Amino acid sequence: MPATPLCRWCAEPDVEFGWYPSALHEVADALPTTARLAAACRGTGDRPLLDRVADALDRYRGPSTAPGPVVDIGAGFGGPAAWLRRYRGVATVGVEPSADAVAAARGLFPEVPMVRGDAMRLPLADGAYEAALVLGVVSLVDDVPRALLEARRAVRAGGVLALTDYVGLDVSAQQAVREARAAGHPVLPVGTKVRLLRDVLATVEAAGWVVVESGVGPPEPDEQWVDAREEVDRVVESHVARTPHGLGAACRRALRAERRARTRFAEAVDGGLVSRVTLVARAV
Ligand SMILES: C[S@@+](CC[C@H](N)C(=O)[O-])C[C@H]1O[C@@H](n2cnc3c(N)ncnc32)[C@H](O)[C@@H]1O
Repeated sequence: MPATPLCRWCAEPDVEFGWYPSALHEVADALPTTARLAAACRGTGDRPLLDRVADALDRYRGPSTAPGPVVDIGAGFGGPAAWLRRYRGVATVGVEPSADAVAAARGLFPEVPMVRGDAMRLPLADGAYEAALVLGVVSLVDDVPRALLEARRAVRAGGVLALTDYVGLDVSAQQAVREARAAGHPVLPVGTKVRLLRDVLATVEAAGWVVVESGVGPPEPDEQWVDAREEVDRVVESHVARTPHGLGAACRRALRAERRARTRFAEAVDGGLVSRVTLVARAV
C-alpha cells in the first residue's frame, strides 16, 4: 500500500516544535495579545518568572541607564522578549536558530527584532548588550561553556545574565532519564539534556559571570496563561484541519506524541526528577 503523503508541516518538521511554528504563524492575526504571549513563552514561560527576571534587570542596572538592549538567546517564538518589552519597557532583541520559530516570532510580535543565529556563535557585537536571557536553552545546546562565553562576550562588563532551565540535582537524575529513554518511555523532550545544577553554576562562573542570585523551585503556572495556551493549541489544530492538507495521520501522531511528551515531562517535574533553576549573574 502506498504510504500516505505527509502534509507540509510533517514533511519538513521544525526540530524542536514540529509543525507548530508555521501553523501558529498563520493564525497569529486571529489571536489576542495575551494568548499570543502565553503561547509564545515556551519552556520557561510563566509570568512570575518573567517578572523576577525583569526585577533583576532593574536591580542591577545603573540608575541612569535606560532599559536595554537585552538579547534573548534561544528566543523561540519571542514570547519572553515581547513580554519584557510590552510590560517592563525593556528593549529586547531575539536570537534563535530555528527559521520557523523566527518566522513565527516575527508574525506574532513584529515589534521584537529577531535575528537567526546560534547561541554558540552569536551574530552579535562584543559588549553591545546590557543583559542576556538564556531561558530554557542550556538543556538544548551542545556546548554550554561555549554558549555562556558567547553570552558573556555580547554583554558589557557589569551587565546581567538571567538563566533558567530544568536541571538534575544529582547524577541519579541523569541515570533515570537515560534508563527511561532506553526503555522507550522518554521523560524529557527529544534532544533535551539533563545538566546538573552544580555543573551549570560552575560553567556560568567559568565563562566570566558571578552568580548573584540562584534558586530552585517548581514552575508557577498561571491559570490564565495555561488556559490561553490550550486555547491557542485548539485554534492552531483546527486551522491545520481546515487546510487542504488537513490534520493528517502524521500530524495526529505528532500531536499525540507531543502531548505524551508534555505529560511525562510534567510528571518528571512533579516527581522531582528534574528541578527548575533560575539564576542571575553579573558580567565581570
Ligand atoms: C524551550 S525553548 C525556549 C524558548 C524561549 N527562550 C522561551 O522561553 O520561550 C528552547 C529554544 O532554544 C532554541 N535552541 C536550541 N538550540 C539552540 C542553540 N544552539 N542556540 C540557540 N538557541 C537554541 C530552540 O530552537 C528553542 O527556540
